Parts: sequence; structure tokens; C-alpha cells
Amino acid sequence: MNILIINGPNLNLTGRREVAVYGSRSFEDYLEELRAAYPMHRIEYFQSNHEGDIIDCLQAHGFTADGIIINAGAYTHTSIAIADAIRSVTSPVVEVHISNVHAREQYRRVSMIAPACRGSIAGFGLDSYRLAVEFFIKSV
Ligand code: DQA
Repeated sequence: MNILIINGPNLNLTGRREVAVYGSRSFEDYLEELRAAYPMHRIEYFQSNHEGDIIDCLQAHGFTADGIIINAGAYTHTSIAIADAIRSVTSPVVEVHISNVHAREQYRRVSMIAPACRGSIAGFGLDSYRLAVEFFIKSV
């Protein structure tokens, strides 16, 4: 199975940014462990701080990937363009968040992309990504 993880703005600083919220582990370190746990599957990774680059990535891989896991960071709460890109491709897309966005500020409780996604996983720390991988492996 070919799974693509897309991380949006500031997620390149995971492990160093707001460690009380997002933890002290870098995403790259976690990704190594995730790939090692699923040696039969290909887990590709893309990160960008730019909305258009995220859309380009969805368009480039969204017709061939078996599953896409997206943490759009703050664009989650604002980006109709990313929601439209998710709707425009055929690969199933799962929204993930490290933190429990529903237990935080009011504006984080709104996701522009959730209605375009197959489902959403939030609040399990970096393990949110593994839960999304499990969904694709077991159900798609
Ligand atoms: C986040 C939650 C967003 O509200 C925030 O802007 C992020 C990270 C998360 O993974 O918990 O950058 O997507």
C-alpha cells in the first residue's frame, strides 16, 4: 500500500514548538519508527508551510496514492482551497491532528477540510498518524 503523509505549516517544528501541546519528539524521528512498524507498506512524506504547495502535492499524488493522511495545521481552520483539492482527487484522505483540537480554542474546533475527508483523528499525539495508517491498511 502506498500511503502519503502531508504536513502543513509549522509541523516541521514538531518537537521544538509548543512542546506542552505537541510533544518533544520530532516528526522525522516518529516517521522513522512508523515506517519501521509497517515495512510492507510505502509511507511517503511531504511537508510545506505554503498552502499552494500542499494543493500541488494533493493534485500530484491524489490519483495514485492508496491513502493520504493530512495534517493541514492552521490551514485546517481556514482553507477552502485545500478542502476543494481534497474533493478534487480520488485517493481517500484522512485528516489528523496531534492535539485534541476540540478541547482547544473555539476557532480550532472548526475544520474546513473535515467534510471533504473520509474521517478525522485528533488528540492522540503523534500516534494519530499511526491510527490513520491502520485505517488504510485494514479498511481500504
Ligand atoms: C494541529 C492543530 C492546529 O490547530 C494547529 O494550527 C497546528 C497543529 C495539530 O496537529 O494538533 O498547527 O493541526
